Amino acid sequence: MNKSSLLNKEFYGDKRVFVTGHTGFKGAWLTQILNELGSRARGYALPPEPGCLFAKINGSELIDHVIGDVREVDRITDALISFKPEVVLHLAAQAIVKDCYDDPHRAYGTNVMGTVNLFEAVRQAPSVKSVVVITTDKVYENKGDAAVYSVGDPLGGADPYSASKTCMEFVSDSYKNSYLQTEGRTVGIATVRASNVIAGGDHVQSRLIPSILNGFASGKPAELRNPGQTRPWQSVLDAINGYLTIARKLYEEPLKFSTAWNIGPAKEGICPVGSVFEKLSQYFNSSEPYAAAGKFSVKESKTLGLDIERSIDLLGWSPEQPLDKMLYDLTDFFKRQKNSEPERSICLRQIREFFAI
Ligand SMILES: NC(=O)c1ccc[n+]([C@@H]2O[C@H](COP(=O)([O-])OP(=O)(O)OC[C@H]3O[C@@H](n4cnc5c(N)ncnc54)[C@H](O)[C@@H]3O)[C@@H](O)[C@H]2O)c1
Repeated sequence: MNKSSLLNKEFYGDKRVFVTGHTGFKGAWLTQILNELGSRARGYALPPEPGCLFAKINGSELIDHVIGDVREVDRITDALISFKPEVVLHLAAQAIVKDCYDDPHRAYGTNVMGTVNLFEAVRQAPSVKSVVVITTDKVYENKGDAAVYSVGDPLGGADPYSASKTCMEFVSDSYKNSYLQTEGRTVGIATVRASNVIAGGDHVQSRLIPSILNGFASGKPAELRNPGQTRPWQSVLDAINGYLTIARKLYEEPLKFSTAWNIGPAKEGICPVGSVFEKLSQYFNSSEPYAAAGKFSVKESKTLGLDIERSIDLLGWSPEQPLDKMLYDLTDFFKRQKNSEPERSICLRQIREFFAI
């Protein structure tokens, strides 16, 4: 078993955890994981979208479920302070590149000012010991072809999603340096640059995996925007275990671990979009080809790889699930869903296997 998941199992059993974005795709998995680990957790997010994983697992039974907008500073402050959390995990965001491109005002308002508002709340909450802000691997300045990004590389942001996430990096740094590691307080604060996540239960059809699976199920070819582009693919369980590990390390040694971290797959998980499609075709016994999707104006990197060696060395975390296992679990999820197995039980099987519960 993964040592970090074992340590997380012990650590989170008696912790109070405040999560933003708990109704989203990763948030729904995180809600179930925290519940399984025995944490007391409060979630703060917009209402779950119809048909989303959080709704299907009846997530509001598993977490103290608060509906609120991160753009409302008073509301998030009340929700956070009254809960007295020790750990804060900030996932809430406008997270779809195209949606951010279509409505940049909303993207910046949510991602940038939402993060400012979260930190304003943390400033007033003496209980908080560690804060993890989830950004993305898209915060790195595009170095062109065959780039593998390390934490020290320059940041950029050629489109509203990437730029707003990069701003979250600077907002976090400024609150750390100006307020939360001064004034007699030492709150551990880190940003996490995570890569594309693969798991069952994603309902957002504009994202790659749901659109491929839907294509197989409907007999209509999935539309791939960039089959030749290479991306790092990681399992949702490895990503969340990474967030939990960083928050635990910040709690234990706030100054040492207050920095940015890359969380992504091992090298074999960095592969082209088209290869993921081919592998899934095999698992689904599908011979449907894919179709070329219409282009949109955001220029995306041809290759995006993440260097995770520093995270492995210093955090004691490492990715546990190879690409084939992720794709197997994803396929299994989909088939069980089609056989009417409740989503909560499908997720729990995978969570319990991962954390050896
Ligand atoms: N899914 C991925 O592959 C991936 C990869 C890298 C980074 N990320 C980041 O991980 C985080 C979670 O991603 P996800 O895939 O679960 O996204 P998602 O779109 O499924 O969920 C987003 C969550 O944020 C909440 N939210 C959005 N606007 C809000 C607002 N104004 N106020 C309060 N809550 C608001 C939503 O209600 C939802 O709970 C995001 O920060 C995203 O940028 C995701």
